[in-house]
Amino acid sequence: MKAQAERAIADCRRIARMTEEPGRTTRRFLTEPTHAVHALLRERMEALGMKVSVDAMGNLRGRWRPNGAQAKRLVLGSHIDTVPDAGAFDGVLGVMLAIEWVGIARELRLPLAIEVIAFSEEEGMRYGVPFLGSRAVTGTFDAAMLKWRDADGVTMDAAMRAFGLNPAKIKAAAIGDDVIGFVELHIEQGPVLEAEGLPVAVVEGIMGQTRLNLRFTGQANHAGTTPMRLRRDALAAAADWITKVEKQIRKAAVTTDPGIVATVGRITVEPNAGNVIAGSAEVSFEIRYGSSAARHRWTKKLVADAKAIAKRRGIGFEWEQKLDQQTVRMDRGLSTMLKSAVKACGYPVRSMPSGAGHDAMVMAARVPTAMLFLRSPGGISHHPTESVLESDVLTSLHVGREFLLRMAKAVG
Ligand code: GLV
Ligand code: MN
Ligand code: MN
Repeated sequence: MKAQAERAIADCRRIARMTEEPGRTTRRFLTEPTHAVHALLRERMEALGMKVSVDAMGNLRGRWRPNGAQAKRLVLGSHIDTVPDAGAFDGVLGVMLAIEWVGIARELRLPLAIEVIAFSEEEGMRYGVPFLGSRAVTGTFDAAMLKWRDADGVTMDAAMRAFGLNPAKIKAAAIGDDVIGFVELHIEQGPVLEAEGLPVAVVEGIMGQTRLNLRFTGQANHAGTTPMRLRRDALAAAADWITKVEKQIRKAAVTTDPGIVATVGRITVEPNAGNVIAGSAEVSFEIRYGSSAARHRWTKKLVADAKAIAKRRGIGFEWEQKLDQQTVRMDRGLSTMLKSAVKACGYPVRSMPSGAGHDAMVMAARVPTAMLFLRSPGGISHHPTESVLESDVLTSLHVGREFLLRMAKAVG
């Protein structure tokens, strides 16, 4: 299986060069380089004898149905969109490994039907909401979003049509009751497995998250002539709020709500000029924590803080919620099967929660779902230095073999 592990890594590196921005990996939902990714995935899948199609949300789907297979299929997959200046393995490795798992099932002649899905959108970069691909697959996509616009003013509907898709057919992307379960392989994106010297872990559950957009509106004006006391500086108001967020959540993380995290990762300033007081500042906000009650309590408190800051500074303030995703537990039966596969490969069985969001969160509400994490060297992800060890990829293929044998037996 060494050759397959090498191929999976080489494919991820190749796909990382399919990008919107020369010199760095950025591949947002349905942007041009996604066509090249689809072409490579199609080639790999067809070489195995899989039937390939693209659904109306742009998810690439490959079906493997050997002779004598059960009617119900196992679904495997992850996403192929990326954050800006991404690494090569977040999402993409899970897709390549899913294809390699099909190769293993084929070699073992298992009578197991498998569908591999390369989800078109998970990161939420282009339209501010994540999981568009898995929402379509689970029949939970809200068609009202088709009118939303990206930063260039392109509606989701127009983006889909430009890619060659028909938004009227999104409903047909949904899976029926003929799916046994969903398994996603993904890099850990954190430091735990490396610290413990382990190659893989089975995910227990995925942390809930809430995402907002907030807009502070002041008055753009001349930076040289406007006295400090007469300014309505939107950027200063946003900065005031951001530091308040960090201060309070840092404290909560070691007192009332252990491990809670909140992030402001994007700020868009208008007119964004050194000699003009900022007229508006739009910021992203996300907060992740297992307890929905605590997440909602903090969201309410921090929005109230933002309102108070804006009021004190004579600044306008608006906000909207983009996401409120509950914490989800992975399926016990499917996770037990994965753990048994890890054990059969001679590794300690480690289970852990995921702080990162995954398509598995959305799939879990529809079908039994499990996840396998692979160690992330340096704990680095969402960064070009993100990597994976070839030996861990090999381990994940051995785990796949054991898992698929068990799965074929269970459904046979
Ligand atoms: C996805 O990578 C997320 O957790 O934001
Ligand atoms: Mn990611
Ligand atoms: Mn991911």
